[in-house]
Amino acid sequence: MKRIAIFASGSGSNAEKIIDTLAPLAGVEVSMVLSNNYRAGVIERARRLKVPVLLFDRSTFYETSKIVQVLQSQQIDLIVLAGFMWLVPAQLVDAFPSKIVNIHPALLPKFGGKGMFGHHVHEAVMAAGETESGITIHFVNQRYDEGQIIFQASCVITNADTPDSLEAKIHDLEHAHYPAVVKQLIFNETTDNEHHLQGDFS
Ligand code: GRF
Repeated sequence: MKRIAIFASGSGSNAEKIIDTLAPLAGVEVSMVLSNNYRAGVIERARRLKVPVLLFDRSTFYETSKIVQVLQSQQIDLIVLAGFMWLVPAQLVDAFPSKIVNIHPALLPKFGGKGMFGHHVHEAVMAAGETESGITIHFVNQRYDEGQIIFQASCVITNADTPDSLEAKIHDLEHAHYPAVVKQLIFNETTDNEHHLQGDFS
């Protein structure tokens, strides 16, 4: 059995899509959802989908090894960040090398880094006059949005678009691709250098 843990801080629509996609499959389970935000929509979604939830605070996450211990004791194979807002600490990255993935709502390496989250990303993309944006799924290292890119998909920005409409397009792209990429990662045990899925999911 392959076990996935999802970290999310917000609504959790990506988490729900991933859980829905994997639930019918043999040999894999989403074992837990972890969140730093006790008001996050993802908590209600996880409870409805019967996935255990673990809430934690900043000091537990950054100053203890409790979260690493829980993930190890649950024999987690892949950690999926889906709208998780905190930087992942070194001890967690080191405990799960090439086993933590994130989704970013833009085409990295542009429009990434600290402060580039949610609406800020889409506002920056539009302010820069870009004619396309998209999603980037990447491995997580200790710097925001700088880990190895696994997959990207793009969408066109038209003159009629606003940051809100772009956000909706990006969410559609995320829902269409993130579950498939997670599925591919969990069932294909390859070496780090073989994780080049770019373009394979269109
Ligand atoms: C997504 O746009 C993701 O790219 C970003 O946070 C958002 C999470 O959305 N990292 P949701 O909570 O899954 O709806």
